[in-house]
Amino acid sequence: MRTVKFAGTTVAAIGQGTWYMGEDPGQRNHEVAALQQGIELGLSLIDSAEMYAEGGAEQVVGQAIAGRRDQVFLVSKVYPHNASRNGVPAACERSLKRLGTDYIDLYLLHWRGQYPLEETVDAFERLREAGKIGRWGVSNLDVDDLRKLYEYSDNCATDQVLYNPSQRGIEFDLLPWSRKRQLPIMAYCPLAQAGRLLKHPTLQEIAERHGATPAQVCLAWVTRQDGVVAIPKAVTPEHVRLNAAAASLSLSSEDLRAIDRAFPAPTRKQHLAMV
Ligand SMILES: NC(=O)c1ccc[n+]([C@@H]2O[C@H](COP(=O)([O-])OP(=O)(O)OC[C@H]3O[C@@H](n4cnc5c(N)ncnc54)[C@H](OP(=O)(O)O)[C@@H]3O)[C@@H](O)[C@H]2O)c1
Repeated sequence: MRTVKFAGTTVAAIGQGTWYMGEDPGQRNHEVAALQQGIELGLSLIDSAEMYAEGGAEQVVGQAIAGRRDQVFLVSKVYPHNASRNGVPAACERSLKRLGTDYIDLYLLHWRGQYPLEETVDAFERLREAGKIGRWGVSNLDVDDLRKLYEYSDNCATDQVLYNPSQRGIEFDLLPWSRKRQLPIMAYCPLAQAGRLLKHPTLQEIAERHGATPAQVCLAWVTRQDGVVAIPKAVTPEHVRLNAAAASLSLSSEDLRAIDRAFPAPTRKQHLAMV
């Protein structure tokens, strides 16, 4: 299983997303079971946010990790409108309560909002000193904002951004910039939300060669380079199983060339894509 040095520890290169979990009470048991299955298969990093189902996803995670907190690397995110000096600790306390734990391993600013980055970073650092969070990081920040952040602090543990074969913009500047600073990237929507991408003939051909699925090829591709963690969200048990197995799938240079032909790497700056 490919692993990544991440925020002071080592995690499997594939983790678990939770967007859209916690919205439908009828799905709750399936969602809890999926996260637990993932943990058992080694997908120890779980990504959530106060935004997801307005706290509902964190509650699902809390139920899933009860009694197994020490097996999990827990990530959550604060809304930009809560990212002020007093807003951050208050939001963190609410998240901790929903997650049923007394610390979050990695706490992220979900995207840039009205508060100065310095103010949010100071609040994160105070949470760190208080032992409420292990590390802090950001999400949806492009290189310009990361530069500004680094002028103030280089304690950032990750930038969580959109990345999959059909969305390669970060390869032009953000990925090389972060690699130079040993800043790991968390790739969100690594399956492009299971839309048309998974039907692409090139991904299907590569998948067939490996006895794998196009989704597994996406995950192997996203995590092919060191310092990238992918966080697919899966509730279907078979999807969880396949995603865990993808952490052991390696693509050949021939596969990578075929993906480059089908989804060319960027040759100029692209605006940071977000969903
Ligand atoms: N920071 C941000 O702004 C941001 C934005 C978006 C997402 N995120 C994070 O990134 C995570 C992943 O992104 P996402 O949930 O939007 O999209 P995604 O992971 O690309 O796609 C999720 C979809 O893929 C399906 N799926 C999962 N594994 C599969 C497999 N092996 N084969 C086929 N289909 C599979 C899931 O179905 P089932 O559920 O039925 O299994 C679900 O419909 C989120 O859950 C969230 O934690 C962060």
